Formats: sequence, structure tokens, C-alpha cells
Amino acid sequence: MTFQLRSFRPVLFFAVIAMSVFALSFASQPAEDHAADSELTLLMRQMYYDTASMKTAVKKRQKPVPAIQHKHLLTAVATEGKQTKSPAYQAMGQAYLKALEELLNASPKDAKDRYKKLIDSCMSCHTAFCPGPKMRIEKLY
Ligand code: HEC
Repeated sequence: MTFQLRSFRPVLFFAVIAMSVFALSFASQPAEDHAADSELTLLMRQMYYDTASMKTAVKKRQKPVPAIQHKHLLTAVATEGKQTKSPAYQAMGQAYLKALEELLNASPKDAKDRYKKLIDSCMSCHTAFCPGPKMRIEKLY
């Protein structure tokens, strides 16, 4: 019996270490608080999916039709409230909306190129204001 317990001890020891590491890795992650997601964050998520479905349409040589109003990006409240009021943000927002309009008015021949320019304009604003999601946005190319 004594012998059995002793041989079991290292296993127990490692199990406790493994469980602590596991618990700590959870504790160190920032708590996700969806209630705190800003209006702009929620809009951006919708824009992401809307753009992905426009990509599918362009690929199938169908007319891309947005399902949401992208122009709200000019007025939606951001996590950092003042951000969207800056002239630089507004200019990039306008450039994005213009790129979207050009995609919607593009001939089927030009649509692929216009679509790429639309994603370029997501990327420019993100380079300036919010680099975090850039890797995700790159997947839309
Ligand atoms: C004019 C600037 C601007 C343009 C254009 C723009 N974004 Fe954003 N985006 C932001 C800002 C600022 C945030 C951060 C929002 C906040 O924290 O309130 C953001 C956040 C995001 C997020 C993170 C959402 C989350 O879950 O946290 C994604 C994804 C995103 N944008 C995708 C896109 C895509 C896709 C496009 C183009 C179709 C785009 N963005 C165009 C400024 C822009």
C-alpha cells in the first residue's frame, strides 16, 4: 500500500501543476464583456460579414448588394469616443464610402478590382486607427 502511494505521488504532483497552469491561463485572460462593445465595434462586425458576402457575389459575377448601411461608420460611437470625430477619421470614412459606391456601380469587368480597392480602404483606416483586426480583414482579399 505504502509502495503504491509513493509511486502514485509524482503523477499527483504533475496533475496539480497542470491544473494550476490551466487555471492560471484562464485567470490571466481579460474578461470578455460583450455589454461593453461599442456601437462602432458592432457595426464593424456587421460590415465584415456584409463585405464577405459581397466578395462571394463578385466572385460569382453577381451584383454585390450591401445588407447594412455602411455610412453609419461616420457617426457610430467608438470605444474611444473622440476618435471618429477627428478629420482624419472622417476623411478615411468618406474614402471608404466612395470605394463602396464605386464597387456598387462597377461593371462586372471592373468589380474584382473595385472590390480589392474597398478592402484597401478598410486597411488604410485600420492602419491609422485600429491595427488589431488587420489580419482578419486581410482574409477578405
Ligand atoms: C474610417 C475608419 C474605418 C474603416 C473604413 C473601417 N474600419 Fe473597422 N474599425 C475602425 C475602428 C476605429 C474600429 C474600433 C472600433 C471601436 O473600438 O469602437 C474598428 C473595428 C473593426 C473590427 C473589430 C470588431 C471587433 O469585433 O472588435 C473589425 C473586424 C473591423 N473593424 C473590420 C472592418 C472591415 C472589414 C472594414 C471594411 C469593410 C472596416 N473595418 C473599415 C475603423 C474603420
